[in-house]
Amino acid sequence: MEPKIRAVRRAELTQVYELLNLVFATKEGSPVRFAAQTEHDSTFRLRHGRVAVVDGRVVGYVRIFARTMLIAGTPVLVGGIGSVATHPDARSHGIATALLEDAIAEMHRSGMAASFLFTGIPGFYERVGYQIVREPSFTADAREVAGLADAGSWDVRPMSDADVPGVVALYRRAIAGSTGAIVRTARTWRDPQAWLDEDDGGCLVAVRDGVVSGYIRSRCRSYGHAVLEAECSPGQEGAIAALLAAVGQRAVAHGERIIALAPDAHPLAAALRSLASTVETMDVEHPMMVQALDVRGKPLRSEPVRWWNTDRI
Ligand SMILES: CC(C)(COP(=O)(O)OP(=O)(O)OC[C@H]1O[C@@H](n2cnc3c(N)ncnc32)[C@H](O)[C@@H]1OP(=O)(O)O)[C@@H](O)C(=O)NCCC(=O)NCCS
Repeated sequence: MEPKIRAVRRAELTQVYELLNLVFATKEGSPVRFAAQTEHDSTFRLRHGRVAVVDGRVVGYVRIFARTMLIAGTPVLVGGIGSVATHPDARSHGIATALLEDAIAEMHRSGMAASFLFTGIPGFYERVGYQIVREPSFTADAREVAGLADAGSWDVRPMSDADVPGVVALYRRAIAGSTGAIVRTARTWRDPQAWLDEDDGGCLVAVRDGVVSGYIRSRCRSYGHAVLEAECSPGQEGAIAALLAAVGQRAVAHGERIIALAPDAHPLAAALRSLASTVETMDVEHPMMVQALDVRGKPLRSEPVRWWNTDRI
């Protein structure tokens, strides 16, 4: 029977969480907090959840994450794609493809200029128009990262509510004028704290004399401990090494390697390149992918893009 593809209804959300926990628990080995991730995301709207329904049963799901992205320094509305799942019984019948096409149409309707995602199966998304963003990717031995020398005496600790304004200021300075960065507010920095387990990663800050001089965001993934971004005040590059060392210690405890994307001239890249175990490649296993959705997305094709500090899904 042909599935109905449409926006999710509130009464169907429990079915969606069950589907996501089934599909991703099987793949990643541990359940992800999809219910909390959706309920605590202040940007979520029912039209952002696209479902495939057969006989009243949700068999497929795709989620749109409404974000604002800087393109050549100008904020534009964009859509992140995530939580792409088809029930194992319903696969290979074009359901995920139809859901993605429907999500793209919805993003068009919402006036989104571009869409982005992160994936381990880029070929699947190339078929519906996404292109890989090529960027230096690093892997390093967690033990070596954990031993990174710290030039200054930094207090490295999980970000607290009081640190958020300092982190926002560092982020704003880092993304000014860029392409590919997501505009984040204090609220979007705080949202994930509600559903992220500390063990799963999160945001650490480096503080000296009461001032937030740097931060790092990381996530524990099945393929390693992924550094999503790190920033510091000018002249405080030692904070990046101190933060990386703290993430390294966490990864050692989990028996994981460190994975990071970083722009070429960034202190994060410099810190990672200083390690003997670091391997650098442009052939990213879990790349970011992007597609321009209309004429306003055009600069995406010509602008150098700094995706690595994008608000990952
Ligand atoms: C990936 C997934 C959503 C595809 O759902 P689907 O409804 O079967 O997709 P479609 O029928 O539209 O397309 C199927 C095609 O996608 C491609 N595809 C599916 N899984 C793939 C994978 N892991 N790697 C590469 N290509 C893949 C294949 O070309 C496949 O064709 P085939 O069935 O003839 O082999 C589904 O397999 C799933 O839920 N997987 C687990 C969760 C996941 O990996 N989500 C994506 C996270 S980025």
